[in-house]
Amino acid sequence: MEQPRNRVFSGVQPTGNLHLGNYLGAIRNFVPLQQTHECIYCVVDMHAITVWQDPKELASNTREVVAAYIASGIDPSTNVIFNQSKVSAHAELAWILNCVARIGWLNRMTQFKDKAGKDREKASVGLYAYPVLMAADILAYRATHVPVGEDQKQHLELARDTAQKFNNDFDAPDFFPLPEPLIMGPATRVMSLRDGTKKMSKSDPSDLSRITMRDSADDIAKKIRKAQTDPDPLPEAVEGLAGRPGADNLVGIYAALAGLSKADVLARFAGAQFSVFKPALADLAVEKLSPITGEMKRLMADSAYIDGVLAQGADRAHAVADPILGRVKEIIGFI
Ligand code: AMP
Ligand code: TRP
Repeated sequence: MEQPRNRVFSGVQPTGNLHLGNYLGAIRNFVPLQQTHECIYCVVDMHAITVWQDPKELASNTREVVAAYIASGIDPSTNVIFNQSKVSAHAELAWILNCVARIGWLNRMTQFKDKAGKDREKASVGLYAYPVLMAADILAYRATHVPVGEDQKQHLELARDTAQKFNNDFDAPDFFPLPEPLIMGPATRVMSLRDGTKKMSKSDPSDLSRITMRDSADDIAKKIRKAQTDPDPLPEAVEGLAGRPGADNLVGIYAALAGLSKADVLARFAGAQFSVFKPALADLAVEKLSPITGEMKRLMADSAYIDGVLAQGADRAHAVADPILGRVKEIIGFI
């Protein structure tokens, strides 16, 4: 079985409220990889249900992630777009890898601690095993590269450790490649607009904390105007952003949207007050995001088209994953 050298896999959960962090930290970076890699982009609905999801919303949130992928520029005719639950290799391999990964590894996962909160006993077993399912997602395709936001770095390390342990335990050197994270651009961790020390997240109770991919131009401008900052003007150099999380976040967002570095942005706005910078950022955000959100709306109105993309994607995903899973079963001695 040939090992692919440049196969990309990534996933986004259909948990609603897709936001600017998802776009700048992940989805936008998926787009250029189409030129150089074989790309498989998944809507990870099985990950979503590790916390409660309303069944009706899950279906529409799944279509929304597909719409975001396509509206952002991913071409479903040359890349695979599908939802995880349609390809049983994910669940099957996850079980096998549950028997490879160690409890001690999972106990170190910071995302589980954050999501489970204080009452850990009440968290689902799925939430705990979540990183192993993620390893299975990637390894079911023997993917080599995984574009993600910075918050997924620890999960990627667990995927690498799991791949390595499988290869060692079963004396199958190099069977699973050790997947490389691709954490790209100046906005790998977009922060809340209300609190620059907290990650922008789908579950923050405050709508003002995030720009979503459903927001109108007016919503975007309002949220940026209300974003938490400090009274000082923008500094001349990136070092001057230290200790100013709100300012640092807005400069990072500007840089990512404009395709610049933070240093370039500061060269342009050094000494400017937020009363000048925020309107410039709002205009830029509207200019870059409106075409995408408009296209998403158009696509969302055509669920038959989206469901067709998912069906075709699932067929193609099966064709890649099934032989790999078959080989895994042979390796471990299932007959
Ligand atoms: P999720 O919504 O948790 O499925 O995340 C989907 C993708 O978006 C993953 O690659 C995350 O790392 C990325 N992501 C989520 N939140 C942020 C954020 N605040 N900043 C940058 N990337 C993010
Ligand atoms: N855990 C990722 C997140 O919350 C989503 C995800 C699931 C994923 N499976 C993946 C990302 C495989 C990359 C590769 O963002």
